[in-house]
Amino acid sequence: MRKPLVISVVNHKGGVLKTTTTTNLGAALARKGYKVLLVDLDAQQNLTTGLIGTVQYQEGELTLFDALLDETPVDHLIRETSEKNLDIIPVTEDFAGADISLVSAVGRESILKNCFNQSKSLHNYDFIFLDNPPSISLVVMNALVVSDYFFVPCSSEYLPMMGLTLLGNSIGKMEKIAPNLKPLGVLLTMFSRNERICRQVESALRKELGDMVFNSKVRVNTKAKAAPSVAKTIFQYENSPKGRGTEDYLTVADEFLERITAQEEALNFKDVANG
Ligand SMILES: Nc1ncnc2c1ncn2[C@@H]1O[C@H](COP(=O)(O)OP(=O)(O)O)[C@@H](O)[C@H]1O
Ligand SMILES: [Mg+2]
Repeated sequence: MRKPLVISVVNHKGGVLKTTTTTNLGAALARKGYKVLLVDLDAQQNLTTGLIGTVQYQEGELTLFDALLDETPVDHLIRETSEKNLDIIPVTEDFAGADISLVSAVGRESILKNCFNQSKSLHNYDFIFLDNPPSISLVVMNALVVSDYFFVPCSSEYLPMMGLTLLGNSIGKMEKIAPNLKPLGVLLTMFSRNERICRQVESALRKELGDMVFNSKVRVNTKAKAAPSVAKTIFQYENSPKGRGTEDYLTVADEFLERITAQEEALNFKDVANG
């Protein structure tokens, strides 16, 4: 497989498990032996706080926001987490100004891509996941432009499901600036077999999107709510192979690997066929 593969975790809806999935899918892949980097692109700092605790903005210290402003490498921002093979680029509160600052930048959708292209240590990773804010903003556009794939967690409810059309339309419009961006799929989250609406949403989505919907799902899990409060992944928090979140995210990781391998092989084939 090419290295690194960059995956945007996106949905303009909040609360659909973008951050939880970035954390725990990343941790599952790290536990399977892949080198994984997570990047927090949301000024709310949920990914950062849930993995390494809140990182305070220090006057004079260079942040991810500065890297974007100056179009410089991001290598120095990488930190280790308590999971082996899992690193993070944290975000600090100053990042709240990113969208406004990007508006007037030349080539404003490709700034993050330029930062990544100059960063030497990113080649050490198999996968880089970008945890996006709940918006369709310049930050998200920058994430999509630097990404090979986008991956959409969607909670098993009516309104988030309806919002997927809007998301699809917005991403579709990016074809010119992100010609190589491919969909990886939609992951149903907060699923509960006993709730009729969850079953209805699942069948409607499968009818509408077919194979794009992951077979694996993330079930409702109270432990997953608590894990970030002590800066732990679900694997560390449940500490049992039978944990609900542990099982779910290992299954999601297997399907993620299957799907991405299939797509990468198809791409290689196309490249060879085209000489
Ligand atoms: N499996 C789960 N079941 C129920 N709630 C969950 C689960 N996983 C995470 N949560 C909680 O759901 C909320 C939203 O999750 P989050 O990943 O922050 O969503 P997003 O990043 O899309 O806004 C958080 O409070 C989180 O603790
Ligand atoms: Mg989030």
